[in-house]
Amino acid sequence: MNILGLGEKSLYLPRPAELTEVETLSKKEKLFRLQLEDGSRLDHTPGQFVEVSVFGIGEAPISIASSPTRGSTFELGVRLVGNVTQALHRLQAGDTVGIRGPFGNGFPVSELIGQDLLFVAGGIGLCPLRSMVQYTVDRRHQFGSIILLYGCREPAEQLFRQELGEWRRRDDIELLESVDRCPFDIAWEGGVGVITTLFPDIDIRADRTVAMVVGPPVMYRYVVAECLKKGMAKERILLSLERRMKCGMGFCGHCQINNVYVCLDGPVFSYAELARINEVEV
Ligand SMILES: Cc1cc2nc3c(=O)[nH]c(=O)nc-3n(C[C@H](O)[C@H](O)[C@H](O)COP(=O)(O)OP(=O)(O)OC[C@H]3O[C@@H](n4cnc5c(N)ncnc54)[C@H](O)[C@@H]3O)c2cc1C
Ligand code: FES
Repeated sequence: MNILGLGEKSLYLPRPAELTEVETLSKKEKLFRLQLEDGSRLDHTPGQFVEVSVFGIGEAPISIASSPTRGSTFELGVRLVGNVTQALHRLQAGDTVGIRGPFGNGFPVSELIGQDLLFVAGGIGLCPLRSMVQYTVDRRHQFGSIILLYGCREPAEQLFRQELGEWRRRDDIELLESVDRCPFDIAWEGGVGVITTLFPDIDIRADRTVAMVVGPPVMYRYVVAECLKKGMAKERILLSLERRMKCGMGFCGHCQINNVYVCLDGPVFSYAELARINEVEV
């Protein structure tokens, strides 16, 4: 068996990778830059994930937050949640973790060429989407217009502030930001309200736009409704699902919805596909 063209070993056995840089993104999130110790590239598609193991603690699925166009290292944005993520947050540059993967389908990059792109990121959903945004920035000529909507709870929770600034300054990317609430003593120029409050401010060509949506499950229903209201077909709305996972490769059944394995057939699905597999409430 050779899923994704990887050697069998790299699917079952963690490959050692060195943390070359650790950056604090916010109170709860850190960004880890990694290099596989054999010097090879991860060779991922934006939207895929890896299983990261902290030796002696356990493994967790984490999306790849950087684009494959950015050299031989790769980045993971990790929120501190429980055992594995806590142990990861304690590690420093120079430490080693295990990496299995990349797993999952990722975004259909070649089908997106020539399309207008609408990215919708909620909270830590910017991590998986950042990989795709960086990819389109690096190959800007291959894509039509690019709109990025990014919402989080409050300004202090914004991730990748410096990079957001770079995207904001470009005239070939439209970036609109919102926060659910803003403390009165914080300067904030974006919108205040849930992410869907940004939709009335954007103009899209529904028949040539593909939406890529990643965020907390509660966001999906409302974002999908806004996309449909703009006239987009269900096939053009792509959502990345997060389910409890163990093996990451279609064996254990932890991530199964009906006859679909989210780790293998996803995590990226079109809204049309989700409706077919009875996961309409996404
Ligand atoms: C495909 C995929 C991509 C992901 N990408 C990222 C990413 O880029 N960055 C990131 O920070 N996290 C990501 N996650 C979530 C991450 O895998 C979990 O936060 C992590 O496994 C928690 O492990 P832990 O040992 O630290 O917590 P645990 O000790 O296992 O759990 C702590 C708490 O979190 C809950 N929990 C654990 N895992 C999940 C889950 N998958 N969904 C919902 N609740 C959960 C548990 O029920 C428990 O309440 C992703 C998950 C998937 C499936
Ligand atoms: S995580 Fe094991 S089948 Fe998907």
